[in-house]
Amino acid sequence: MIDTTSVTAEVGGVRILDSPDLGVVPGQVVAVVGPSGSGKSTLLRILTGVQVPTSGSVTIDGVELTRLSVGARAAFRRDRLGVVFQDPELLDELSVAENAALPIVLAGRPRREALALAREQLARVGLASLVDGSPQTLSRGEAMRVAVARALVAGPRAVIADEPTASLDRTNALTIARLLVDNARAAGAATVIASHDPEVVALCDDVIDLRSEARVTRS
Ligand SMILES: Nc1ncnc2c1ncn2[C@@H]1O[C@H](COP(=O)(O)OP(=O)(O)OP(=O)(O)O)[C@@H](O)[C@H]1O
Ligand SMILES: [Mg+2]
Repeated sequence: MIDTTSVTAEVGGVRILDSPDLGVVPGQVVAVVGPSGSGKSTLLRILTGVQVPTSGSVTIDGVELTRLSVGARAAFRRDRLGVVFQDPELLDELSVAENAALPIVLAGRPRREALALAREQLARVGLASLVDGSPQTLSRGEAMRVAVARALVAGPRAVIADEPTASLDRTNALTIARLLVDNARAAGAATVIASHDPEVVALCDDVIDLRSEARVTRS
């Protein structure tokens, strides 16, 4: 579902990423680990199509991302990927449900239908009672759960999360990580999570270490 071959990234002639090859199947969760500066965010930006690798190929859901135009990559990201970052980046002028509905509203779903799907997804992340509230009143953990609901609302084939638990306390961090793992299992989404957190990494099926370029397989 998510496959990379010989992906590298260079900035100003300096190699900032030389990634081990990834092969993430539906329902599988792979952790990307490595010290600060090892290229985790660079690899994840390449997987979301925001950044083009200097060399190598990235295929997600049968589509070779590096061959697409900028606009086609943006549409691919919107329609087929769920993306979560460390910062929830909710829009304060929208309600919680409207935030979670945003990707499918932008994709052209009728508003009422989009809001119904967003409410279902928010219930799955335990926020049914907060759907009509403002994001401004949410705790950090709740805001991250809205970001997860927004990432999952379109039923993405692949989910990419860059340190989604980094700004959270232990309980909330594990809640968010479990939501992503549970979604992978239930929806068959191929999932990649960059994390520094050993407890989060322990929930994943497989680990890509960018420092050692070693792939540690658990079975
Ligand atoms: N646009 C850029 N221009 C110059 N250097 C960059 C650029 N983007 C990334 N880098 C460098 O590439 C390296 C990898 O950065 P990246 O953000 O991918 O690391 P990371 O593993 O995500 O780190 P962290 O754990 O701190 O988030 C770093 O040394 C960074 O400074
Ligand atoms: Mg990073």
